[in-house]
Amino acid sequence: MMDTLTFLGIESSCDDTAAAVLRGSAILSSVVEGQTALHAAFGGVVPEIAARAHAERLDICIEAALDQAGVSLADLDGIAVTAGPGLIGGVLSGVMCAKGLAAATGLPLVGVNHLAGHALTPRLTDGVDYPYLMLLISGGHCQFLTVRGPEDFSRIGGSIDDAPGEAFDKTAKLLGLPQPGGPEVEREAAKGDPKRFAFPRPLLDRPGCDMSFSGLKTALLRQRDALVAAQGGLTRADRADICAGFQQAVADVLVEKTRRALKVSGAKVLAVAGGVAANTLIRAGLQRVAAEAGADYVAPPLRLCTDNAAMIAWAGMERFRMGARDGMDLAARPRWPLDTTAAPLIGSGKKGAKA
Ligand code: KG4
Ligand code: ZN
Repeated sequence: MMDTLTFLGIESSCDDTAAAVLRGSAILSSVVEGQTALHAAFGGVVPEIAARAHAERLDICIEAALDQAGVSLADLDGIAVTAGPGLIGGVLSGVMCAKGLAAATGLPLVGVNHLAGHALTPRLTDGVDYPYLMLLISGGHCQFLTVRGPEDFSRIGGSIDDAPGEAFDKTAKLLGLPQPGGPEVEREAAKGDPKRFAFPRPLLDRPGCDMSFSGLKTALLRQRDALVAAQGGLTRADRADICAGFQQAVADVLVEKTRRALKVSGAKVLAVAGGVAANTLIRAGLQRVAAEAGADYVAPPLRLCTDNAAMIAWAGMERFRMGARDGMDLAARPRWPLDTTAAPLIGSGKKGAKA
């Protein structure tokens, strides 16, 4: 029976080393080791440091995941691994590790697109049926996808430059707040006035579901520098007001573009994934437009919204049930768009290659 499949998932495409064991939709274990501390001094993810850390920690994470799940390699039906898109050194570490395990045990190997992992998570957590609309908003991703099957995605819009999480992170950096910037900016914004500074709402005046967030950062930089020039520095209130204005601009863009995407796709379910979906203002706005469109709103718990290996095991099982098997020639891919028919989006952020 398909629900009794037991799969190991492996994820190493960015700055989280993760391993998980799933039995059907039951998450027996999900181990995620972040690398924030390793990259903190550099103001962003350093690919070489990430790849080395993955190579050093993957087997430890896998052992921990098997241990916590109370299963051994012999209990598994297959191994799913992120084969892209992402920072190539990290993806390679995971793929090589998975190939080694598959070769040693004879278990089937299934390569998974990291974005498919995110996009299929609502099926794991909430049993959502196809088709549905997925909004992926994280530090490295920003796209609307109509999800029709484990390998059937249509992208109906996305960021043409920075991902929103990246914009939050850059904003934090410009204001001297720690990384990752999202939660810090949100905390500051709670104390600020979103109306004091008029930040742009990029691409809102243009039709379609594409977005842009890099201009916001420039506007913010100009505002900061103007205040510094006029007053010799920023007050706490200035910083809070800038954060509030920025957050409101991002939320307005995401909410309006989601309204359009719901219309274009006609979907009855709006699902979100990615760290930015943790933002209270953004979440409330998305919930509101979903309700307006008569669609259900599904937001998996944050630990499954952000990078993890449970989503990779799940996506691997979905592909496996369709008959997918990969061999020792499984390639690690820095770029791997889910929708190969859509025009490529521009841009490649610090958090990794975008698709
Ligand atoms: O999904 P995620 O953990 O990792 C990937 O990028 O794949 O997302 C991390 C991003 C970071 O850029 C972080 O600043 C942002 O999500 N983030 C937030 C919040 N919490 C995390 N952005 C806005 N508001 C938040 N509360
Ligand atoms: Zn991700």
